[in-house]
Amino acid sequence: MELTLTLDAKSAKPLQAQVFDQVREIILDGQLKAGMALPPSRLMAERLGISRNTVITAYERLAAEGYVRARGTAGLFVEPIPPDSLLLIQRGGQTLTNGPVPDESSEPLLCFAGSPGGGGDRPELDFWVGRSDPVGFPLRIWRRTVNRLLSDETAYLTDYCDPAGLPELRVAISTHLRRARGVSVTEDQIIVTTGGQDALNLVFNLLKSHTRQLCIENPCYLGASLIFRSAGLTIHPVPVDGEGLRTDLLPRERGSLLYVTPSHQFPTGAIMTLTRRLDLLRWAEETDSFIIEDDYDSDFRYDGPPLTALAGLDGGRRVFYAGTFSKSVGAGLRIGFATVPRMFWGEARMLKARMSNGQAWLEQAALAAFIDEGHFDRHLRRLRQVYKARRDCLVEALKRTFDGAVIIGGESGLHLVWQLPVGFPSARQIQVMARERGIGVYALSSGAAYDFDPGAEDNMLVFGYSSLTETQIGDAVERLRLMLDGLV
Ligand SMILES: Cc1ncc(COP(=O)(O)O)c(C=O)c1O
Repeated sequence: MELTLTLDAKSAKPLQAQVFDQVREIILDGQLKAGMALPPSRLMAERLGISRNTVITAYERLAAEGYVRARGTAGLFVEPIPPDSLLLIQRGGQTLTNGPVPDESSEPLLCFAGSPGGGGDRPELDFWVGRSDPVGFPLRIWRRTVNRLLSDETAYLTDYCDPAGLPELRVAISTHLRRARGVSVTEDQIIVTTGGQDALNLVFNLLKSHTRQLCIENPCYLGASLIFRSAGLTIHPVPVDGEGLRTDLLPRERGSLLYVTPSHQFPTGAIMTLTRRLDLLRWAEETDSFIIEDDYDSDFRYDGPPLTALAGLDGGRRVFYAGTFSKSVGAGLRIGFATVPRMFWGEARMLKARMSNGQAWLEQAALAAFIDEGHFDRHLRRLRQVYKARRDCLVEALKRTFDGAVIIGGESGLHLVWQLPVGFPSARQIQVMARERGIGVYALSSGAAYDFDPGAEDNMLVFGYSSLTETQIGDAVERLRLMLDGLV
């Protein structure tokens, strides 16, 4: 099929971005249907009177974002359901309205490619975000604890426990939250969930009927976007900058539900300033809105004093806190939790009973003992040292190799962002090229992140460093250097 594109050589927008935007538009409009081929890059370049490399760059970006896929040497073919065709995007505006409920089989999965059961090949050196160190799991203590529990208390395996979660675990979580995050909740404000994702779902379902519109950071965590985008409510993606979510751009209508990651914005790594945290709480009060605070990786802070969570500042009124042990202990445990203001407790417990009637006893009991006996604190202290050394190694290697590279978001958590200098290929291009060389690095619109504005400037490259050794990190940065050497 011949594509009619109109390029403007005088525009400030680069030609490759114009090609990308217009072809993407043609796919979203349905003129180019699933399975149809894009014109070969040489032909397209000739017709448009531009260089073939410009077309190739635009095509690579379309492939990186999942609009098209290469089939060997046959060329590039349109994918069945492009990633954001499920949204009617009001271009130039902020508000998105969901279309029909998305076919989620077309969405990327939250587990990384090549994880056990995740499918696909995994890059040899993968900076996928938020993976805990596989050899850092406290296996010996865990095995001993589980064996002890199994010989002492097997009755719990044949019985139901409280749908809100094992009371000992809820007490242990509330103690940890008070000490580490300044969040003062009792065990009867906590629901144990299947990881953080389930906590987000629980809170969302709890508040759905109180909600008129959804607000979410942009870019944001893919898992949160999946929940929000399937809700059939108006979505306001709110931009983030170096201080976190732009509170001045929040809508003033009443009855919002906001998803936010103030302690380490996912994926940019920004830490929300106290002024903005207080602005957020004021906004929630004034607009009768609620906030889901996703505090997924706050157990790891390397520089500066610990920050009080938003839920700690709020005093249990409007902030629902979602936590997870996926980063601090291991994602395979699938244990997370939500805290709810006291007035929502009964409803939340009932909802959890309706959804799954509680969590498996053994993992909860083992985790409660692990925390109570002081192993969790020791484990965190050790991991913080390991991850800090990896963070330092990555920052040092990037700065040394790429002449003072600008790194942001590395003060805490398990990932950081390299802000690419002017003249470098885009983050998506680097992602595609690096992947061919066995390295997984991720643009803001890929991996476990979601970008409501994929046409935005694409110069942020995300590195999750927690599961790679320092030697692997050094090797990966050297390979990136070799790859970029002739290009910049
Ligand atoms: C920002 C963010 N929130 C929540 C989660 C959910 O974690 P879980 O694996 O416990 O479902 C993750 C996991 O990577 C995450 O990155």
